Amino acid sequence: MTRRRSALVLAPAILLAIVVSSCLRARTVDLAGTRGARGTTGAEALPPPPAPPESYIGVQLCRACHPAVAATFAQTKMGRLFLNAPRDAKERHACETCHGPGKAHMQAGGGRGKGGMISFARNDPTPIAVRNAICLDCHGKGDRLFWPGSAHAGSDVACTSCHRVMDNVSVKHNLAKVNEIETCGTCHLQKRAQQMRSSHMPLREGKVSCSSCHNPHGTASHALLKESSPNETCYTCHAEKRGPFLWEHAPVSESCMNCHEPHGTNHEKLLKVAMPRLCQQCHVLPGHPSNPYGTDPPSLRFVVARQCANCHANVHGSNHPAGRFFAR
Ligand code: HEC
Ligand code: HEC
Ligand code: HEC
Ligand code: HEC
Ligand code: HEC
Ligand code: HEC
Ligand code: HEC
Ligand code: HEC
Ligand code: HEC
Ligand code: HEC
Repeated sequence: MTRRRSALVLAPAILLAIVVSSCLRARTVDLAGTRGARGTTGAEALPPPPAPPESYIGVQLCRACHPAVAATFAQTKMGRLFLNAPRDAKERHACETCHGPGKAHMQAGGGRGKGGMISFARNDPTPIAVRNAICLDCHGKGDRLFWPGSAHAGSDVACTSCHRVMDNVSVKHNLAKVNEIETCGTCHLQKRAQQMRSSHMPLREGKVSCSSCHNPHGTASHALLKESSPNETCYTCHAEKRGPFLWEHAPVSESCMNCHEPHGTNHEKLLKVAMPRLCQQCHVLPGHPSNPYGTDPPSLRFVVARQCANCHANVHGSNHPAGRFFAR
């Protein structure tokens, strides 16, 4: 009886959990269609097993029919290495390590869809997890350690959604577009747009990039942040905001995101909400003008220049013995 009752209680909860989780899955970001054909999700896929030696034809034959492609590849970091100074069989097979052994392709006279080459193109029937496994076979360590189970792996994003490997489109890292804003921006349209707002960190100026804060390959923390929390991420560059302070301002140590939107806003200093309203979300003060616009007579010091910060200059915390109100 009790068991049945608990099952009855649990059933709607489980149903809700399923609905919520499928909604979350469906809540795709502003994808611009760069995702390839849906294959198996999950990052446990293995690269195709090594083929028998006789099914490889060697770089020279690929080059003979694909001279232009081979020439641009030779300019890339991987191309320079694989084509000139390979260190092992995988690097020596080069083209065929990524595209698969080419004998059948050559015997068919070459051509699109001939001989089952893995093309990495949008219409490639090879599941994305299998394509990714080919890259991860060499790149599975280091920054890619948390790729399995990451937001991108789980959404069937391909390595080649962000990387273009046959030629150098970007200055660094073989990105798919000229820089990170453009690369990430193909899917995260809103984040790209935010960088164009009046208040933004210097991403456009090239001093900071998405990967200053995020590791797009996956992390152990939330939102692909490189550090364990938003605040730890901010402290890597704004160390003075860490304190310790004699007088801490509670919302600061809790999360910088209480007041700032790091991707860009139209309020100065990346504030989520303009002052004084920002402060008034949490502080309504009798006596102290809680609504500075409505004071009689209006006190300009509350609404001009740095507004609340005219007097409360150290909103992030104070080390002055008399700094309880962050005025010094
Ligand atoms: C590191 C893996 C890798 C290696 C090595 C590699 N390719 Fe590619 N190749 C790709 C990927 C990924 C693409 C998809 C486009 C891109 O990312 O640049 C591609 C695209 C191509 C295409 C175009 C396919 C199409 O649909 O138009 C050809 C042709 C090609 N590669 C031939 C070669 C040849 C020839 C070599 C050796 C000289 C080679 N590739 C080496 C990964 C590789
Ligand atoms: C006999 C000539 C020939 C040889 C040898 C050859 N290819 Fe091709 N391959 C072609 C032609 C032609 C196409 C069609 C290209 C096009 O339409 O631009 C093609 C297409 C491709 C594609 C795209 C496949 C698709 O289904 O979209 C890839 C990838 C590729 N070749 C890789 C290779 C690799 C790697 C090698 C060496 C192992 C190789 N090719 C050897 C002639 C050849
Ligand atoms: C055979 C092993 C191997 C495979 C397979 C392989 N790579 Fe690489 N890759 C390397 C090596 C080695 C380097 C050079 C590393 C270095 O110099 O630090 C490299 C470099 C890179 C770089 C850095 C380029 C730069 O300019 O900094 C990127 C990005 C990259 N690979 C992406 C990929 C992607 C995407 C795939 C799958 C399509 C792939 N690799 C497949 C071995 C491999
Ligand atoms: C969502 C976009 C995105 C995806 C997906 C992605 N990368 Fe990257 N990758 C980047 C960016 C941005 C950089 C440069 C900044 C950095 O290193 O974090 C980079 C850098 C790299 C580098 C060079 C690192 C170095 O130290 O020079 C390698 C290698 C690499 N990626 C491999 C991969 C492989 C393999 C996959 C698929 C499992 C993959 N990437 C998927 C965006 C991506
Ligand atoms: C091919 C499309 C695509 C590209 C390109 C892309 N992303 Fe994503 N990104 C996604 C998808 C899909 C998700 C999962 C969305 C969701 O669950 O809401 C995601 C999620 C994220 C998240 C949230 C993770 C979480 O746990 O909530 C971050 C952060 C992120 N991406 C950063 C980046 C960065 C940085 C780049 C560029 C280096 C990038 N993305 C490029 C498709 C893409
Ligand atoms: C200065 C650090 C920083 C930079 C630079 C940055 N982000 Fe973020 N991003 C964050 C933080 C912190 C969060 C988590 C916010 C939270 O916890 O509410 C986040 C969250 C996200 C999310 C998931 C949550 C959401 O709001 O949808 C995406 C997607 C994302 N960032 C993409 C990007 C892209 C794309 C770029 C480059 C154009 C970028 N970020 C640059 C710090 C940064
Ligand atoms: C990779 C380094 C880096 C990281 C990480 C970083 N910032 Fe910044 N931030 C900068 C730089 C550089 C500036 C511009 C400083 C300047 O122009 O004097 C800046 C400026 C700012 C500004 C002032 C903007 C303005 O309009 O004057 C705010 C606010 C800010 N960052 C908040 C944050 C927050 C919140 C985080 C964490 C989510 C963060 N930053 C993480 C480098 C970083
Ligand atoms: C209670 C709201 C609030 C919180 C939380 C907050 N800030 Fe601020 N921040 C502000 C205000 C208001 C300004 C503008 C101050 C001014 O005009 O003097 C500012 C300005 C900044 C600036 C640019 C000016 C300067 O002081 O260098 C940086 C950088 C900054 N904040 C980083 C951070 C970081 C990092 C965190 C998290 C540790 C954080 N902020 C948390 C309200 C906040
Ligand atoms: C997210 C809510 C939040 C925001 C936004 C916020 N504060 Fe606070 N503030 C607090 C909390 C919580 C305390 C601690 C209150 C306490 O100890 O009684 C505090 C304390 C203070 C104190 C010291 C009060 C005391 O009695 O010790 C001052 C002054 C102050 N805040 C000013 C500001 C200013 C100026 C802003 C706008 C830049 C602001 N706060 C934004 C939550 C917030
Ligand atoms: C003209 C200077 C000035 C301006 C502008 C100003 N404050 Fe104050 N504020 C003070 C002083 C001085 C105190 C300390 C009052 C005391 O000693 O009781 C104070 C105290 C506070 C306290 C603590 C009150 C308490 O009783 O615990 C908060 C919270 C606060 N201010 C928030 C704000 C906010 C929000 C704004 C913007 C709307 C603002 N202040 C603008 C001078 C100012």
